[in-house]
Amino acid sequence: MTSQRKLFVTTALPYANGKFHIGHIMEYIQADIWVRHQRMGGHMVQFVGADDAHGAPIMIAAEKAGQTPQQFVGEIAAGRRQYLDGFHIRFDNWHSTDSPENTELAQGIYRRLKANGLITSRTIEQFYDPVKGMFLPDRYIKGECPVCHAKDQYGDSCEVCSSVYTPTQLIEPYSTLTGARPELRSSEHYFFQLSRPEVVDFLKAWTQDGKLQSEVARKAGEWFEAGMADWDISRDAPYFGIEIPDAPGKYFYVWLDAPIGYLASLKNHFDKGQAKNHWHAPSRTEAGFEQFIADPAVEQVHFIGKDIVYFHTLFWPAMLKFSDRKTPNQVNVHGFITVSGEKMSKSRGTGIDPLKYLSLGMNPEWLRYYIAAKLNSRVEDVDFNPDDFVARVNSDLVGKYVNIASRAVKFVPGGKLVAGDRSALDAGKLVEHVQVLYETREFGKALREVMAFADAVNLRFDAAAPWKLVKEGKGEEAAKVCSECLEAFKVLTACLKPVLPALAAQAEAFLQCEPLDWGNAAKPMGAGHAVGEYKHLMQRVDMKLLDALFEVPGEPPSPQPSPASGRGSDPGGEPLAPSITIDDFTRIDLRIAKIVECKAVEGSTKLLQLTLDVGEGRHRNVFSGIASAYKPEDLVGKLTVMVANLAPRKMKFGVSEGMVLAASHADDKKSGIYILEPWPGAEPGMRVR
Ligand code: MSP
Ligand code: ZN
Repeated sequence: MTSQRKLFVTTALPYANGKFHIGHIMEYIQADIWVRHQRMGGHMVQFVGADDAHGAPIMIAAEKAGQTPQQFVGEIAAGRRQYLDGFHIRFDNWHSTDSPENTELAQGIYRRLKANGLITSRTIEQFYDPVKGMFLPDRYIKGECPVCHAKDQYGDSCEVCSSVYTPTQLIEPYSTLTGARPELRSSEHYFFQLSRPEVVDFLKAWTQDGKLQSEVARKAGEWFEAGMADWDISRDAPYFGIEIPDAPGKYFYVWLDAPIGYLASLKNHFDKGQAKNHWHAPSRTEAGFEQFIADPAVEQVHFIGKDIVYFHTLFWPAMLKFSDRKTPNQVNVHGFITVSGEKMSKSRGTGIDPLKYLSLGMNPEWLRYYIAAKLNSRVEDVDFNPDDFVARVNSDLVGKYVNIASRAVKFVPGGKLVAGDRSALDAGKLVEHVQVLYETREFGKALREVMAFADAVNLRFDAAAPWKLVKEGKGEEAAKVCSECLEAFKVLTACLKPVLPALAAQAEAFLQCEPLDWGNAAKPMGAGHAVGEYKHLMQRVDMKLLDALFEVPGEPPSPQPSPASGRGSDPGGEPLAPSITIDDFTRIDLRIAKIVECKAVEGSTKLLQLTLDVGEGRHRNVFSGIASAYKPEDLVGKLTVMVANLAPRKMKFGVSEGMVLAASHADDKKSGIYILEPWPGAEPGMRVR
């Protein structure tokens, strides 16, 4: 093993105004695979993420939702875990840029930049919304295009004729927040002087020294040619952000404090005392955050998408360098995921809803495998193609890899491996190659090598025809070949482990081998080792699942669905259920019910126990998962609607004789739960039809 590395790895911090989309998940899968590969090499990794909480769009969205920005981003943050766990993405810590750590770090970095003479201020003129009482970011100003006179064009460019201009050139400009005509007002802004020769020289050297992907370095070169301007890092109140020290009413522009959030999450992780969990060298004394981040041996590695390269290769290294900190070692840029060749729009979301994927019971490792198989080290887009997905997963994972174990184990009596001839297959070489390919993010190539090896193993099995050997009374020979196949299966499992951690864990349990890593991957389990009982390791993907995944809400499922095209947004966060007839509906007997009693359920934080009067001359007992939304005393005496002919169901706390109706968004943690109440005049027992 090469000497142990210390790695600090991040993914871009997602804006906290929306749920994760498939683009986020793709980025996390890429980084997670790389991190798992490092851990298999015995290296120390701190892998952190955080929500990017600040900025005008989030402030405005929160206001629209009737919430404080803190509440708003808090609810988004609460929904993160199920995605990460669901796709086996194992961050060591998840934090927020709206945190004490980030405030302290951002203000500290700013103070250093200022002390080093790189901050300047000057007065600029900007559009101001007099009704809202705030300066308007360009995206909140619309008006008539000064070139083609198309109406309702954004402040920076025209969608009709593609002209680029400044908001002040718009004809009849208006604020999209209030409709008011914005007025020009002046305000003092703070700038980070990126145009200073020492900064430009530093960045030229930093971007051109070979650490960046060649296409990224080339792009940076173009930016230098266009000339570096100073960077406006301040925004005026009201703003959801971090206050600038000694500048009342001024806040850091969100992109200043966002990357500092990488450090804030790491600091939070250290301060919680959890960083040592992945500190594999036991003899080492535990270092604090500042020591770790300043340690020349620590490699700082960022995974980001192609749209935020400017921030990560110019602003961020300059901020770090000129506040006397260490700069990143790697900025690994990936392309975008498209679905059947179509770009996903940020506002509409995408053709694949990650939570829907999971809720359909689709295996998260299918997606991990498919994305990995398509990734390389370049800034190329990755297309999700449903037919290709099904073919790839079924043929590679089920047909080639899993198949080896299920076939071979049958001919090894008692699972006890016997010594065979040394295999012609060179496991050592494969393991070595695959490590290099993971290291350089050539995941697609790595998996192709793994599958070529699996092909060779299957060929060996077929050529030996162990089923025939057994019939011919050569059971021992069959056991030899199949022992060899199981050894190869172990090697393949190790090679797939960064991509398929859960499947690898199952396979390790079957093989009864130690946890696989790069150190033991190519070592034979050896004659005499007994493997366990084989249980099926992975289902095939059924095309029907993909049809369901891409089903357009409100449309009957078509035999030949065209994924992603013309897909609107799902109402309330979930697609409409398939259509039913009126007869289907009348089978459900909905009745008005009066809540005569209501109490909390001991031992449950979710349930309330309701006593309902449905006009039957007796009362019903119903449990309902609404404890997060209502206090028992607030419900007593109210009318609601219940499903009265639902078969009684025995629950942990008693029998439930029906169900009360309540509304919620698919993500009810975000939306809350709202019980239904009829208009005045309705009486217990009346049917709802
Ligand atoms: N908040 C900023 C990043 C701040 S980092 C200090 C941001 N957030 S984002 O939510 O818009 O994007 C987060 C990451 O997802 C970025 O790396 C972005 O490139 C990536 N992706 C967004 N759409 C994507 C695809 N369609 N495909 C792959 N990655 C995509 O930018
Ligand atoms: Zn125009």
